[in-house]
Amino acid sequence: MPGPDILAATEQILSAFTPERPNLIPILQAVQGKLGYLPRSAMQAIAGYLRIAPVDVYGVVTFYNQFRLNPPGKHSVKVCLGTACHMKGGYIALDAWQRRLGISPRQTTPDREFDLDTVACVGCCTMAPVTVVDGKPEARVDPTRVDGILLSFGREPPAKDQK
Ligand code: FES
Repeated sequence: MPGPDILAATEQILSAFTPERPNLIPILQAVQGKLGYLPRSAMQAIAGYLRIAPVDVYGVVTFYNQFRLNPPGKHSVKVCLGTACHMKGGYIALDAWQRRLGISPRQTTPDREFDLDTVACVGCCTMAPVTVVDGKPEARVDPTRVDGILLSFGREPPAKDQK
């Protein structure tokens, strides 16, 4: 979404709130709900509206896991790090996703195909470790399974990993 659209959408949301600091989180949630993430220009507009420093808005956005600084990808990848998944190798799965996609949690691949995030228990502990891909829980996700899922999206494993 180009800049003027971001500002127009942000200002429209701001007009529904009184300019008071306690409204910061509801405003951030509403803007992210509309734009899919929180662009810098939107955070600056929010700071101006609430008469607080932009760095304070940025601090809140980076503190809470629910907020995104990057636009969502076409496909969302959420690695479960709840207790059961953690015990069964959730961090190994996360590491595999990070290496294969070349991004860290809360980031989006440069081609905007995938975004990566972590979640707490998604209620499928018997399938641990779980990764939720486009809303669908994938069971027992180890590095090989990560490759398989990415292949189903037409993304080949890196050449050095091919046997
Ligand atoms: S801990 Fe991952 S689904 Fe429950």
